[in-house]
Amino acid sequence: MTLDPTKTTPTKVPPPPEVEPVTLRPATVADAAALALIGAATFLEAFTWMLPGSDIVAHCAKHHTAAAYEGYLAKPNTRVTLATAGSFADDLSAVGYTLLSDPELPTINILSGDIELKRIYLLSRFRAVPVMGHPGIRPAQALLDTAITDALALGRTRLLLGVNDGNQRALNFYYRNGFIEAGTRTFQVGSLTCSDLILAKAL
Ligand SMILES: CC(C)(COP(=O)(O)OP(=O)(O)OC[C@H]1O[C@@H](n2cnc3c(N)ncnc32)[C@H](O)[C@@H]1OP(=O)(O)O)[C@@H](O)C(=O)NCCC(=O)NCCS
Repeated sequence: MTLDPTKTTPTKVPPPPEVEPVTLRPATVADAAALALIGAATFLEAFTWMLPGSDIVAHCAKHHTAAAYEGYLAKPNTRVTLATAGSFADDLSAVGYTLLSDPELPTINILSGDIELKRIYLLSRFRAVPVMGHPGIRPAQALLDTAITDALALGRTRLLLGVNDGNQRALNFYYRNGFIEAGTRTFQVGSLTCSDLILAKAL
């Protein structure tokens, strides 16, 4: 490439589309690296208000790795759904995800029909866009509906989750979807003791 120091007019690039619909699909082990990326990106976006930056980096370096997601996907009762978007129909980017797995909630009495929605995360830019194949439904709702369909297909009768007790937007979403409070837990992220509500929804 030849440099042109006299050039002052920016090259025109096409604008990004105003609306980028999302498409949901099940994740496979081939998506582990994409999951690590969207897992870390959405964790960062969600928790800057709550955690110091270095704790976010340390948390993501441990929990949002391709190896961690390969481990989840190798378990028989794990179901991961990706929300994807982009201009490359055969190679979309992950912009959100859910992770459903056998419960890891030691502070409440786990029943045989229980399953845990361990994660439901969407980049904020993609929360109000159309979802392919789900007319009139917002992406978060389509992700939750898909997780419930997967839980029912696994024969489960109760959906559990842990949510930070200050995460009001997520709490509103869960209460609107019929979740009720079933317990509490605390856990450590870096130097901070996080306080969660455990919510449950009969399926
Ligand atoms: C949790 C999460 C998946 C919920 O998705 P969401 O799109 O924010 O949830 P909702 O569909 O309930 O919409 C949120 C708000 O938009 C409003 N809304 C609903 N439909 C809308 C529409 N068509 N256009 C614009 N706003 C709309 C809702 O009324 C709601 O407002 P309210 O909370 O004041 O009542 C999402 O916020 C998220 O990814 N958050 C970060 C990660 C996180 O916290 N995950 C949960 C960890 S446990």
